Amino acid sequence: MAHPTEIDLTVYPDECDAFGHLNQASFLSLFERARWEMLARGPGMDVFSRGGAWPAVRKTVIDYHAAAFPGDVLRFHQAVTHLGRTSFTMRQTARRVKDDTLIATAEFVFVCVDRDGRPIPVPTEFGEFMSPGPSSGDARRLTVNGVSLAVEVQGEGPALLFIHGYPMDHTIWRDQIDGLDGYRRIAPDLRGMGQSDAPDLGYSMGIYAADLAALLDVLGVDEVVLCGLSMGGYVIFEFLRRWRDRVRAVILADTRAEADGTEARRTRDVAAATARESGAGAIADTMLPKMLAPGTVEASPELAERIRRMMAATQVAGIVGALAAMRDRRDSTGLLPTLAGLPALVIVGEEDVITPLDGARRLAASIPGARLVVVPGAGHLAPVERPSETTAAIRDFLRLLG
Ligand code: MLT
Repeated sequence: MAHPTEIDLTVYPDECDAFGHLNQASFLSLFERARWEMLARGPGMDVFSRGGAWPAVRKTVIDYHAAAFPGDVLRFHQAVTHLGRTSFTMRQTARRVKDDTLIATAEFVFVCVDRDGRPIPVPTEFGEFMSPGPSSGDARRLTVNGVSLAVEVQGEGPALLFIHGYPMDHTIWRDQIDGLDGYRRIAPDLRGMGQSDAPDLGYSMGIYAADLAALLDVLGVDEVVLCGLSMGGYVIFEFLRRWRDRVRAVILADTRAEADGTEARRTRDVAAATARESGAGAIADTMLPKMLAPGTVEASPELAERIRRMMAATQVAGIVGALAAMRDRRDSTGLLPTLAGLPALVIVGEEDVITPLDGARRLAASIPGARLVVVPGAGHLAPVERPSETTAAIRDFLRLLG
């Protein structure tokens, strides 16, 4: 049975415009209907009025990704992404059930008010219903550096921070998060990606790094092993420039230290225009063939589909921001020789076409004492394509740290 936070609703002809598309007013009312249906199947539609509270909408942001038509069944997923004392933020997504197309995402900020409009606490029963259980492994929300990030934290021990690439989310580290017992595994979605907030402006490697430093502060972590893939590696270099003394070791997967050249910078701008004009789905379709080794796609088409969906669900503001951040990132090759004394592991998929093997060899050779592990049969996403080999390589490296 579907979780009560998932609601299926059918689009009717009277909700559509002259061209047959679901119109904006109806989008809003379907989002609202889904919320009430969810409450009806959960703690009851009167969960607010029972507590003398009314959830007043203070802000709404809707991103329309694709058209919906009469007869389409849309699956609305509801999640509370921030739960304050008197306010909460709910993120809703609508996907067409028959082909799983992302139709729209919405974020609503509510303040609970009494009959006189004064803020009063969010009813506990509602908060409990919407919060993922402690054992679900779901990401929780933490507000740091002015942005609300989704972050999964598991286990106890020395801290290990996973930083995903573009345009991805923390779930690319699933096997490593689940498998590396004995460490406190911290895996956020970077701003603009996954379930984290996607502000329109304010993206750079420095800002991503500052978000992560603030996240570590909130979690009470002083010293950390950083493990980043591709753009996650670019973030690590920036983190090292500012907070080298907090870093116990680095794991650089499928990444490079060089800045973008002229052609690569131009390509970033073209990609940003594509994202703005055609949405995240177009970016996902362009990226997918470069992400995975051909053997991975052949052996696990469902994995390829999962990666495509993850990329296609990224918010356009986050994509455009990441492209600008990558385009403008500094060259880090000069930083590498200064890392003497910092244990470093470089991992690369043997068939990676985005950050190929010869670049990884150069990267490892430039960091004094770094080890290189080549993952056979993997493309750009070694942690996902060859999860056990990648997890084992990380575990072996971590053991050496003592
Ligand atoms: C990534 O995987 O993070 C990106 O492909 C890196 C890049 O485009 O430079």
